[in-house]
Amino acid sequence: MKVAPSILAADFANLAADVARVASEADLLHVDCMDGHYVPNLSIGPPVVKALRKHTDLFLDCHLMVSNPGVLLGGFADAGADGCTVHIELGDPRVLFDEIRSLGMRVGLSFEPETPFAAVEPYLAEIDLLLVMSVHTGVGGQPFIPEVLEKARAARAEIDARELPVEIEIDGGIKIDNAPRATDAGVDILVSGTGIFGADDPAAAARAMHAAAS
Ligand code: DX5
Ligand code: ZN
Repeated sequence: MKVAPSILAADFANLAADVARVASEADLLHVDCMDGHYVPNLSIGPPVVKALRKHTDLFLDCHLMVSNPGVLLGGFADAGADGCTVHIELGDPRVLFDEIRSLGMRVGLSFEPETPFAAVEPYLAEIDLLLVMSVHTGVGGQPFIPEVLEKARAARAEIDARELPVEIEIDGGIKIDNAPRATDAGVDILVSGTGIFGADDPAAAARAMHAAAS
Protein backbone atom coordinates (compact mmCIF):
# COMPACT_ATOMS: atom_id res chain seq x y z
CA MET A 1 0.00 0.00 0.00
CA LYS A 2 1.29 3.44 -0.94
CA VAL A 3 0.46 6.97 0.21
CA ALA A 4 0.45 9.88 -2.25
CA PRO A 5 0.14 13.28 -0.57
CA SER A 6 -1.73 15.71 -2.83
CA ILE A 7 0.13 18.99 -2.99
CA LEU A 8 -3.15 20.77 -3.76
CA ALA A 9 -3.48 21.07 0.03
CA ALA A 10 0.12 22.20 0.55
CA ASP A 11 1.21 25.83 0.92
CA PHE A 12 1.94 26.88 -2.66
CA ALA A 13 4.18 29.67 -1.39
CA ASN A 14 6.30 27.11 0.46
CA LEU A 15 5.91 24.07 -1.76
CA ALA A 16 9.45 22.70 -1.56
CA ALA A 17 9.43 22.98 2.23
CA ASP A 18 6.02 21.31 2.51
CA VAL A 19 7.13 18.46 0.24
CA ALA A 20 10.29 18.04 2.30
CA ARG A 21 8.13 17.67 5.41
CA VAL A 22 6.31 14.61 4.01
CA ALA A 23 8.96 13.15 1.71
CA SER A 24 10.17 10.43 4.08
CA GLU A 25 6.63 9.06 4.45
CA ALA A 26 5.41 9.56 0.87
CA ASP A 27 5.58 6.92 -1.86
CA LEU A 28 4.69 9.37 -4.61
CA LEU A 29 3.46 12.95 -4.90
CA HIS A 30 0.05 13.66 -6.38
CA VAL A 31 -0.08 16.81 -8.51
CA ASP A 32 -3.57 18.14 -9.32
CA CYS A 33 -3.71 20.13 -12.54
CA MET A 34 -6.98 22.03 -13.09
CA ASP A 35 -7.70 24.26 -16.07
CA GLY A 36 -10.77 26.27 -15.04
CA HIS A 37 -12.73 24.51 -17.81
CA TYR A 38 -12.97 20.76 -17.15
CA VAL A 39 -13.42 21.86 -13.55
CA PRO A 40 -14.27 25.41 -12.43
CA ASN A 41 -10.98 25.83 -10.61
CA LEU A 42 -7.41 26.68 -11.56
CA SER A 43 -4.42 25.09 -9.89
CA ILE A 44 -0.99 24.33 -11.29
CA GLY A 45 0.70 22.89 -14.35
CA PRO A 46 4.07 22.11 -15.94
CA PRO A 47 5.96 25.19 -14.63
CA VAL A 48 5.29 24.13 -11.05
CA VAL A 49 6.17 20.50 -11.82
CA LYS A 50 9.45 21.74 -13.29
CA ALA A 51 10.21 23.78 -10.18
CA LEU A 52 9.26 20.90 -7.90
CA ARG A 53 11.36 18.40 -9.85
CA LYS A 54 14.52 20.11 -8.58
CA HIS A 55 13.50 19.46 -4.99
CA THR A 56 12.35 15.85 -4.98
CA ASP A 57 13.05 12.43 -6.46
CA LEU A 58 9.53 11.23 -5.64
CA PHE A 59 7.33 9.98 -8.47
CA LEU A 60 5.32 12.99 -9.69
CA ASP A 61 1.83 11.61 -10.32
CA CYS A 62 0.04 14.27 -12.37
CA HIS A 63 -3.76 14.19 -12.35
CA LEU A 64 -4.99 16.16 -15.34
CA MET A 65 -8.42 17.68 -14.71
CA VAL A 66 -8.29 19.58 -17.98
CA SER A 67 -10.43 19.62 -21.12
CA ASN A 68 -7.56 19.30 -23.59
CA PRO A 69 -4.77 17.22 -22.02
CA GLY A 70 -3.12 16.59 -25.39
CA VAL A 71 -1.71 20.10 -25.56
CA LEU A 72 -0.11 19.81 -22.11
CA LEU A 73 1.47 16.34 -22.18
CA GLY A 74 4.74 17.46 -23.77
CA GLY A 75 5.02 20.20 -21.19
CA PHE A 76 4.50 17.78 -18.34
CA ALA A 77 7.10 15.38 -19.74
CA ASP A 78 9.65 18.16 -20.26
CA ALA A 79 8.98 19.38 -16.72
CA GLY A 80 9.89 15.97 -15.32
CA ALA A 81 6.48 14.43 -14.62
CA ASP A 82 6.62 10.66 -14.12
CA GLY A 83 3.00 9.86 -14.88
CA CYS A 84 -0.06 11.57 -16.33
CA THR A 85 -3.62 10.55 -15.61
CA VAL A 86 -6.45 11.61 -17.92
CA HIS A 87 -10.22 11.40 -17.53
CA ILE A 88 -12.47 8.97 -19.40
CA GLU A 89 -15.21 11.63 -19.37
CA LEU A 90 -13.34 13.36 -22.23
CA GLY A 91 -13.95 10.44 -24.60
CA ASP A 92 -11.74 7.73 -26.09
CA PRO A 93 -8.35 8.18 -24.37
CA ARG A 94 -6.24 5.97 -26.67
CA VAL A 95 -4.52 8.81 -28.55
CA LEU A 96 -3.61 10.36 -25.20
CA PHE A 97 -2.30 7.02 -23.89
CA ASP A 98 -0.02 6.69 -26.92
CA GLU A 99 1.27 10.21 -26.44
CA ILE A 100 1.89 9.75 -22.69
CA ARG A 101 3.79 6.52 -23.35
CA SER A 102 5.81 7.91 -26.22
CA LEU A 103 6.89 10.73 -23.90
CA GLY A 104 8.20 8.12 -21.44
CA MET A 105 5.58 8.60 -18.74
CA ARG A 106 3.28 6.14 -16.98
CA VAL A 107 -0.32 6.09 -18.17
CA GLY A 108 -3.22 6.73 -15.82
CA LEU A 109 -6.97 6.73 -16.41
CA SER A 110 -9.49 8.26 -14.02
CA PHE A 111 -13.26 8.26 -13.70
CA GLU A 112 -15.64 10.49 -11.78
CA PRO A 113 -17.86 9.13 -8.98
CA GLU A 114 -20.95 8.80 -11.20
CA THR A 115 -19.10 7.13 -14.10
CA PRO A 116 -19.49 3.34 -14.03
CA PHE A 117 -16.57 0.93 -13.93
CA ALA A 118 -17.76 -0.39 -17.32
CA ALA A 119 -16.58 2.88 -18.89
CA VAL A 120 -12.92 2.26 -17.99
CA GLU A 121 -12.87 -1.53 -18.07
CA PRO A 122 -12.11 -1.75 -21.84
CA TYR A 123 -8.84 0.15 -21.28
CA LEU A 124 -7.37 -1.81 -18.35
CA ALA A 125 -4.80 -3.62 -20.47
CA GLU A 126 -3.45 -0.29 -21.77
CA ILE A 127 -2.85 1.56 -18.51
CA ASP A 128 -0.51 1.49 -15.50
CA LEU A 129 -2.81 3.25 -13.07
CA LEU A 130 -6.57 3.36 -12.55
CA LEU A 131 -7.61 6.38 -10.51
CA VAL A 132 -10.96 5.96 -8.77
CA MET A 133 -12.35 9.38 -7.83
CA SER A 134 -13.99 9.32 -4.41
CA VAL A 135 -15.13 12.96 -4.68
CA HIS A 136 -16.13 15.03 -7.69
CA THR A 137 -13.01 16.61 -9.13
CA GLY A 138 -12.44 20.31 -8.58
CA VAL A 139 -11.51 21.07 -5.00
CA GLY A 140 -9.81 19.47 -2.02
CA GLY A 141 -11.40 18.88 1.35
CA GLN A 142 -14.69 17.33 0.20
CA PRO A 143 -16.29 14.37 2.02
CA PHE A 144 -15.48 10.84 0.85
CA ILE A 145 -18.16 9.13 -1.26
CA PRO A 146 -18.21 5.53 0.02
CA GLU A 147 -20.30 4.19 -2.88
CA VAL A 148 -17.22 4.31 -5.15
CA LEU A 149 -15.63 1.49 -3.15
CA GLU A 150 -17.77 -0.97 -5.09
CA LYS A 151 -16.08 0.21 -8.28
CA ALA A 152 -12.65 -0.26 -6.67
CA ARG A 153 -13.66 -3.82 -5.73
CA ALA A 154 -14.84 -4.52 -9.26
CA ALA A 155 -11.59 -3.15 -10.66
CA ARG A 156 -9.49 -5.21 -8.22
CA ALA A 157 -11.35 -8.39 -9.20
CA GLU A 158 -10.93 -7.74 -12.92
CA ILE A 159 -7.27 -6.71 -12.67
CA ASP A 160 -6.44 -9.78 -10.58
CA ALA A 161 -8.43 -12.17 -12.77
CA ARG A 162 -6.58 -10.92 -15.85
CA GLU A 163 -3.25 -10.61 -13.99
CA LEU A 164 -2.81 -7.05 -15.28
CA PRO A 165 0.02 -4.86 -13.92
CA VAL A 166 -2.33 -2.00 -13.05
CA GLU A 167 -2.28 -0.16 -9.73
CA ILE A 168 -5.53 1.16 -8.29
CA GLU A 169 -5.41 4.63 -6.76
CA ILE A 170 -8.20 6.41 -4.91
CA ASP A 171 -8.50 10.19 -4.61
CA GLY A 172 -10.74 12.43 -2.56
CA GLY A 173 -11.69 12.62 1.09
CA ILE A 174 -9.17 10.01 2.18
CA LYS A 175 -8.29 10.34 5.86
CA ILE A 176 -6.68 8.02 8.41
CA ASP A 177 -10.09 6.69 9.52
CA ASN A 178 -11.41 5.66 6.09
CA ALA A 179 -8.07 4.56 4.58
CA PRO A 180 -8.57 0.93 5.71
CA ARG A 181 -11.89 0.78 3.85
CA ALA A 182 -10.09 1.70 0.64
CA THR A 183 -7.34 -0.86 1.02
CA ASP A 184 -9.92 -3.51 1.98
CA ALA A 185 -11.57 -2.78 -1.35
CA GLY A 186 -8.28 -3.49 -3.11
CA VAL A 187 -6.83 -0.02 -3.53
CA ASP A 188 -3.02 0.17 -3.83
CA ILE A 189 -2.42 3.93 -3.62
CA LEU A 190 -4.15 6.40 -1.30
CA VAL A 191 -4.14 10.04 -2.38
CA SER A 192 -4.68 12.45 0.47
CA GLY A 193 -4.51 16.24 0.44
CA THR A 194 -6.15 17.84 3.46
CA GLY A 195 -5.78 14.55 5.37
CA ILE A 196 -2.00 15.02 5.25
CA PHE A 197 -1.16 18.69 4.68
CA GLY A 198 -4.04 19.79 6.89
CA ALA A 199 -2.52 17.93 9.85
CA ASP A 200 -0.22 19.65 12.33
CA ASP A 201 2.45 17.07 11.47
CA PRO A 202 2.00 15.97 7.83
CA ALA A 203 4.67 13.26 8.04
CA ALA A 204 3.03 11.77 11.12
CA ALA A 205 -0.32 11.81 9.33
CA ALA A 206 1.15 10.00 6.32
CA ARG A 207 2.82 7.47 8.63
CA ALA A 208 -0.46 6.91 10.49
CA MET A 209 -2.26 6.42 7.18
CA HIS A 210 0.25 3.75 6.18
CA ALA A 211 -0.13 2.03 9.53
CA ALA A 212 -3.93 2.19 9.54
CA ALA A 213 -4.26 0.82 6.01
CA SER A 214 -1.56 -1.86 6.10
C1 DX5 B 1 -9.75 16.77 -6.31
C2 DX5 B 1 -8.31 16.34 -6.46
C3 DX5 B 1 -7.79 15.63 -5.26
C4 DX5 B 1 -7.71 16.47 -4.01
C5 DX5 B 1 -7.83 15.59 -2.81
O1 DX5 B 1 -10.19 17.31 -7.52
O2 DX5 B 1 -8.18 15.46 -7.54
O3 DX5 B 1 -6.52 15.05 -5.53
O4 DX5 B 1 -6.50 17.19 -3.93
O5 DX5 B 1 -7.93 16.39 -1.69
P1 DX5 B 1 -8.52 15.82 -0.31
O6 DX5 B 1 -7.68 14.65 0.08
O7 DX5 B 1 -8.40 16.97 0.59
O8 DX5 B 1 -9.94 15.39 -0.58
ZN1 ZN C 1 -6.26 14.36 -7.78
